[in-house]
Amino acid sequence: MLNFEFCSPTKFVFGRGTQQQAGRLVREAGGTRALVVYGGGSVVRSGLLAQVLASLDEAGVAHVELGGVRPNPRSGLVYEGIRLCRENQLDFLLAVGGGSSIDTAKAIADGVPYDGDFWDFYCGKAKLTRALPHGCVLTIPAAGSEGSNSSVITHEDGDLKRGLSSELHRPRFAIMNPELTFTLPRYQLACGITDMMAHIMERYFTNTPDVALTDRMAEALLLSIIEAAPRAMADSTDYESHATLMWAGMLAHNNSVGVGREQDWASHHIGHELSARYDCAHGASLAVIFPAWMKYTYTHDVARFVRFATVVWGVERDGRSDEEVALAGIAAMEAFFTSLGMPHTLADVGGKEEDIPALTAKVVNGKTGHFVELLPPQIEDVLHIAAKG
Ligand code: NZQ
Ligand code: ZN
Repeated sequence: MLNFEFCSPTKFVFGRGTQQQAGRLVREAGGTRALVVYGGGSVVRSGLLAQVLASLDEAGVAHVELGGVRPNPRSGLVYEGIRLCRENQLDFLLAVGGGSSIDTAKAIADGVPYDGDFWDFYCGKAKLTRALPHGCVLTIPAAGSEGSNSSVITHEDGDLKRGLSSELHRPRFAIMNPELTFTLPRYQLACGITDMMAHIMERYFTNTPDVALTDRMAEALLLSIIEAAPRAMADSTDYESHATLMWAGMLAHNNSVGVGREQDWASHHIGHELSARYDCAHGASLAVIFPAWMKYTYTHDVARFVRFATVVWGVERDGRSDEEVALAGIAAMEAFFTSLGMPHTLADVGGKEEDIPALTAKVVNGKTGHFVELLPPQIEDVLHIAAKG
């Protein structure tokens, strides 16, 4: 196990009715004037926004609203939010929604106390040292931003989708009521399930030896998600399966299962280029790239892929070679994504094979991955596999 520091300071308030505590929690975190950030309207239609605003009023927290965050959130709304915070002297960001709203709130929090362009932090020009405090009311189990140290924003100028990790990005609190996810379209739920599984697998495929504890935690999370997913997909009011997915999505990405081990992240980096170019959902990009990445890299450590196949997917050996078992595990994962209605090939997310060189050229620093380091020719190979499916 490698040395590590781990601080997950977020207060998680989980369960039915917890959105009523938003005002109290903002107060507890020192907020008096909040910018409430939300998406394209689901929280207006469900009545959640009205409940949250009522809770803020009750706690005496003044508020300004900023709606209209799109999936794959853009820089334009971040600039707008920074302006609103400065004009109204706001001291707290409250996101009501999914990863896109939470990440927009985090980026606004970064930009308000900074004299320059908030994008400086995302493109590596400046180091983040201060940010406004923020919290969230989560409505989709997916990105894990409610517990993570990351924010991912797409700059409109050049369609650059970039992530920024900083401990200042950990929310002060996250309200997690599984009932709030009952209104999710099935496709969005499936995208979220794919994303949380990807967060675990980015950590599971590692070169670090002797990480049995986090290996087993990762496997337990994957098994629990694989069990809960079809139940939640089949019944949008089944509390227990939605609750399992909501907590698993957080654990998948607050780094509980990633500490002390080298992590990969190539599939995310390549997937971000698909979302930036074709505006496909993040989970959809991962359903296309992760299996392709696995088919390209499994020979690097066949034993790890055999373990993945047998422990996570229940693949029987049936006298087959290690390589055949490893490939059967990848096939089982692909079948699972297909059963959720996820896309499979590059074309399924609007991609074209002739775009592969341009997609590759945009991957940050021209290389990615740690389990197997991928340089541009290898990134192209992965994308060609994704094109075939
Ligand atoms: O915008 P509204 O109308 O709210 O609709 C949203 C949106 O269309 C809808 N939705 C969410 N909750 C709902 C609901 N519809 C009905 N009922 C509900 N309860 O779902 C759609 C997707 O929402 P979004 O916030 O985009 O989803 P998600 O949580 O998957 O976030 C995706 C973004 O997070 C980034 C992704 O790259 C992507 O930009 N990520 C953030 C990470 C982080 N900060 O740690 C890590 C991830 O790897 C990821 O990169
Ligand atoms: Zn992700």
